[in-house]
Amino acid sequence: MRRNLDVVLASVSEATHAGQWSPTDVRRQVAPDFDLMSRQAICELTGTGFGALSSSGSAALRYGLEALGVGWGDVVAIPSSTWIAVPEAVLSVGARPLLIPTDEVGNMRLDCMPEALAGHSPRAAIVVHSNGIPADVGEVRRILPDWCRVLEDFSQAHGASVEGRPVGSLGDAGACSFHATKLIACGEGGAFVSDDEDLVHRFGALTTNGRAPRPPQIGRLDYEPRDNDSLVGSNARLSAFGSAVLHAQLGGYGEYVEACWNGWERIASALHDSPMESLQTTVSGSVPYCLPLRARPQQGERAARVLAELQAHGYAKPATRCLHELSERAFDRPSLRWFRDDLLYRQFGIGECRLCASSTTFFVPHTHLADDRAVDAIARVIRSQR
Ligand SMILES: Cc1ncc(COP(=O)(O)O)c(C=O)c1O
Repeated sequence: MRRNLDVVLASVSEATHAGQWSPTDVRRQVAPDFDLMSRQAICELTGTGFGALSSSGSAALRYGLEALGVGWGDVVAIPSSTWIAVPEAVLSVGARPLLIPTDEVGNMRLDCMPEALAGHSPRAAIVVHSNGIPADVGEVRRILPDWCRVLEDFSQAHGASVEGRPVGSLGDAGACSFHATKLIACGEGGAFVSDDEDLVHRFGALTTNGRAPRPPQIGRLDYEPRDNDSLVGSNARLSAFGSAVLHAQLGGYGEYVEACWNGWERIASALHDSPMESLQTTVSGSVPYCLPLRARPQQGERAARVLAELQAHGYAKPATRCLHELSERAFDRPSLRWFRDDLLYRQFGIGECRLCASSTTFFVPHTHLADDRAVDAIARVIRSQR
């Protein structure tokens, strides 16, 4: 289910008719500045001072790391179980991922960090807020060495917070995806936010072929364009159509999240006395990115029937275990093969990493939580095995 479709269509139509097809198109002055308005809204959501949009979350991570000064030979700590874009971003700047074991929802395990970090000097860490659950960035920072820069990845937790402080504002910078599967989505897109104006400026230049972006392209305040001749960037900007959709989606965020929580509660009440249970994930500050389900102990067979039916209808999918997949598949790309051989196996012996253990976790994605008909159907399937 997608929300705010009328507003989405109106925004895209306005951008299209005005000839505002790119944020660097001079004609954009005649139409509402969706790029600027979206950046303002994402800064507001994250409580940060400055923000820039990008063509994807992957680009936000990759250029975000580069803006933070991460480069060839550096070590970057990342969760062991996460979306492949995270290790790819590290590898793409010539750095080495250092895997930190994760808990059931995919956040870094604080108790495992000291051992995983022993003997390494990470230049940065990407702290992913997985599956709507905010990671404890404060604690992670306390464990990491002082010099280590923290880039939050809040792709799966837009709007989540830790003790009232929004994700994206807890590290040195935040990066996120607005891919179609996310709580805030514009098809393909991403953002980079920070309180550090210089950092966001560098990010903006890196995603604009190394050029100094025009002042309004960077943040919600007035800026002086900078000379960034020394940066070798690329074009990783979000098109004006993307920012027009994004602006409409940001506007409907509160209502959408409420609809997801309603669906969540209805499914959670159907779980009572059923062979399935939900992981305890409604921690304070979390957002309903998905509802994680697993079999109750000794209920494997009946739970398998529920899961098979939910999966057959596309209502649930297994947890992402990308690094696990990585270890199973034959990769031609040398960097990934090196990653698999050198890191995955050497660092974590069998059983240390939770990648394999998490195979019983399934997720109902938020798009179903927000859809009354899907919620009814999911509750029916769960109750059928009581
Ligand atoms: C945690 C996380 N990081 C990064 C990404 C990459 O974003 P994108 O697909 O927009 O490149 C995603 C989603 O796809 C994600 O879930």
